[in-house]
Amino acid sequence: MTYEKTIETERLILRKPHPADAPALFAIHADPEVMRYFSELPWQDDSRAAGKIADDIAAFEKEESFRFAVELKATGQYMGSCSLFAEHRQNRRAEIGYVLGRPYWGHGYMQEALSALLEFAFVERNLNRLEADIDPLNTASASALERQGFRREGFLPERWIVGGQVSDTALYGLLRREWEARRNAGSAAAVPG
Ligand SMILES: CC(C)(COP(=O)(O)OP(=O)(O)OC[C@H]1O[C@@H](n2cnc3c(N)ncnc32)[C@H](O)[C@@H]1OP(=O)(O)O)[C@@H](O)C(=O)NCCC(=O)NCCS
Repeated sequence: MTYEKTIETERLILRKPHPADAPALFAIHADPEVMRYFSELPWQDDSRAAGKIADDIAAFEKEESFRFAVELKATGQYMGSCSLFAEHRQNRRAEIGYVLGRPYWGHGYMQEALSALLEFAFVERNLNRLEADIDPLNTASASALERQGFRREGFLPERWIVGGQVSDTALYGLLRREWEARRNAGSAAAVPG
C-alpha cells in the first residue's frame, strides 16, 4: 500500500504533491528572487515542474522523502513546499528544506508549516536530529530556522557553485531533546494559572 499523509494546521494543509500543482510550482521556481540562495538556477523550462512532481510523489509514496505541498486552507492556493529528505534510518537524522512564493512571505506561513513538519519528523518518523544547509546570506531562512530552535553549528566555505557563483553553507541543527524541551516549555506556558 502506498503511503499517504496530510497534516492540517490552523491556516494550512500540508499534503502530498499532485500534478495540478505544476503551474504554481513552476512560477515559484522561475522567480529569481525566490531562487536567489538556492542550489540551482531559476527554472526556465516549465516542463520541469511535472517531472519534479512525479519524482516527489513517487518518493513520498515509498516513504523515501516527503515534499509536502503547503496549501492555504481558506482558498486551496498552492503557496510552496516544505520537505523532509536525506533521511538516514540508522542515525535517525534527516534534512529539511522549504520555499514559499513571494506573495506569501511575511505572514508566518512557513513558521506554521515548519512546526508541523518538525512534529512529523520527530514523532511520526522518530528522528533524533534534523539539519538544514543554507546560504549564510539568506537571513529570512536563518530566521525561520532559529524560530524553530535550530542552532547554527557550522560554516562550510565555498560548498556550492551555482551558475559560476561560489557560495558557502551555514549548517543548522536541531536535536530531538532540544525540540522536546522547547515544546514542553511552550505547553507549560500555555497552561492557565
Ligand atoms: C525562507 C522563507 C520561506 C521564509 O519566509 P517568511 O515569510 O520570512 O517566513 P515565515 O512564513 O515563517 O514568516 C515569518 C515572518 O512573517 C511575519 N509574520 C506576520 N504574521 C505572522 C504570524 N501570524 N505568525 C508568525 N509570523 C508572522 C514575522 O514577523 C516574520 O517576519 P520577519 O522575519 O520580518 O520578522 C522565504 O523567505 C522563502 O521562501 N525564501 C526563498 C526560498 C528559500 O530561500 N528557501 C530556503 C532555502 S535554504
